[in-house]
Amino acid sequence: MTLEVRKLTAGYRNKIVITDVSFELAPGSIMAFFGHNGAGKSTTLKTILGALSPVEGEVWLDGERIDRLPIPERIARGIRYLPDSRGVFPDLTVEENLDVVARMNAADSGARIAVADVLSMLPLLEARRGSYAGTMSGGQQQMLAFGLALLGSPRCILLEEPSVGLQPDLVEMLFGEIRRICAKHAISAILVEHKIASAMAISDHVLIMNNGAVVFDGPPAKARESNFWEFF
Ligand SMILES: Nc1ncnc2c1ncn2[C@@H]1O[C@H](COP(=O)(O)OP(=O)(O)OP(=O)(O)O)[C@@H](O)[C@H]1O
Ligand SMILES: [Mg+2]
Repeated sequence: MTLEVRKLTAGYRNKIVITDVSFELAPGSIMAFFGHNGAGKSTTLKTILGALSPVEGEVWLDGERIDRLPIPERIARGIRYLPDSRGVFPDLTVEENLDVVARMNAADSGARIAVADVLSMLPLLEARRGSYAGTMSGGQQQMLAFGLALLGSPRCILLEEPSVGLQPDLVEMLFGEIRRICAKHAISAILVEHKIASAMAISDHVLIMNNGAVVFDGPPAKARESNFWEFF
């Protein structure tokens, strides 16, 4: 398994927000992660990234326990986090954004994805390589944010609502690229999304959380038949 989350309990100061959260991601697989506002999705991702320490439980990446490692050590092992604010540098061009992040990831080891590789993987970025990121549409910026996450040796990409503010055709294009590249390079991804049908269409499994606990973990077809949508 690429990512194994085992009985994770975490929260803020004295407030436990997620309890006993467990799931696994196979190499190259995508997990759609749903739940109502405040269910604990971001808290789960922040604990995998290392911004929060678990009270109990474990996080394993490629067979190595990472839940006590500082954030840069997790990034070096291939954890990537895409905030919903996109996290691109608006005053730099597409190529400069990629160059800067490639240098920040310099400690990353393993088979590396370089700036030129990202530009050839994502034709939209190649076409806009000289454009300032801040002048691009939301969809193009989100594509760039995904491109930045691919630099180095990503193993598991955590995406927070990548479709926010995007035209429907761009959502389909972005999700298609995520599906294609994750499968080709055996990169796993967790997709927190409110565009449920589009997210399920590219996902291998679905996790639904309610009040800080996992209430469904299974394939999209089973999720569609389930009655867990009442939680939304
Ligand atoms: N920094 C924080 N300090 C204290 N409590 C927090 C903090 N961030 C989130 N919470 C609380 O933790 C709970 C879970 O929040 P979380 O952000 O994980 O939910 P979410 O599923 O990501 O929701 P959304 O769909 O709105 O993004 C909520 O009750 C929220 O108020
Ligand atoms: Mg959230």
